Amino acid sequence: MRLNVLGTSKVALAICERLVEKDHTVRFVVSRSKEKAKAFVEHLGVGEAITYQELESLSGVIFFAVPDSVIERVYEQVKDRCAPNSCLIHFSGFHSSKIFANADDLGFSRASMHPNLSFADAKVAYLNLPNCIFGVEGDNSGLKIAIELVKDISGKYIVLSESGKIAYHLAAVICSNFVVGLTALAEKIYSSSGVGDFRGLMSSLISSVAQNISAKSVVESLTGPVARGDWQVVEKEREIFEKIFPHFVSLYDNMVEILKKLKEGKL
Ligand SMILES: NC(=O)c1ccc[n+]([C@@H]2O[C@H](COP(=O)([O-])OP(=O)(O)OC[C@H]3O[C@@H](n4cnc5c(N)ncnc54)[C@H](OP(=O)(O)O)[C@@H]3O)[C@@H](O)[C@H]2O)c1
Repeated sequence: MRLNVLGTSKVALAICERLVEKDHTVRFVVSRSKEKAKAFVEHLGVGEAITYQELESLSGVIFFAVPDSVIERVYEQVKDRCAPNSCLIHFSGFHSSKIFANADDLGFSRASMHPNLSFADAKVAYLNLPNCIFGVEGDNSGLKIAIELVKDISGKYIVLSESGKIAYHLAAVICSNFVVGLTALAEKIYSSSGVGDFRGLMSSLISSVAQNISAKSVVESLTGPVARGDWQVVEKEREIFEKIFPHFVSLYDNMVEILKKLKEGKL
């Protein structure tokens, strides 16, 4: 397919790299900065770098690879320059493709194609994309196109309803971003305990939890003092937590409560 990219985003770059390997092509990369568009095209090895001012017309698949909060504005800015029959796709997990208002009346198809992957590191993201599960939704023809693209990246996807996207994204935020937040707390506690080189330790531990979740269920993946009922340990560790994070001790108490309820099957 002929792809176009609006915004020199990390997500678009990794996805386009994978798609170009499967004989899709990139026509225009549109950016607010010519330099950024050029760097994107150079990295990809295909496409023409232009600014929004230089953009005349787009056709084919158009990736709106911009922050969620500006998808609507960028769409309003370029929609008159998108040919009918273009397929508009964004990567947001939060918004549905309905954000492309009146797309149906203007002759566009529309879809969203959300990679359940963290793109914090470009190389890691590129390597993980062949295993990435996408959340996709759209109108009939947009969804068909999004699924065809996903098939050339990982072949793994779930079809989402427009109305369920916000809850779906909240769950993804908890699985991904909240884990980073909790790990930041662990990092501080490790350093206070004198343990050196705890980055590898944290990632291998988190990775083992992820593998257990995949092999079993979430509830069966629960181990540790709450699962065992070692309440003395829970209490003693609470004291240390409170010393290091006096303002967040309610987080510790709430988390213990969550784990208790999970263990009892009452969550
Ligand atoms: N990051 C992740 O891990 C991740 C995971 C799944 C889904 N997503 C989704 O993927 C999409 C892109 O995210 P990303 O993390 O790849 O973004 P990003 O790397 O921050 O890039 C977004 C691009 O949008 C453009 N942009 C930024 N502010 C803008 C503005 N005010 N007006 C117009 N353009 C603007 C910039 O490109 P120019 O400067 O070239 O114009 C920027 O490079 C989002 O919908 C996000 O929700 C992200």
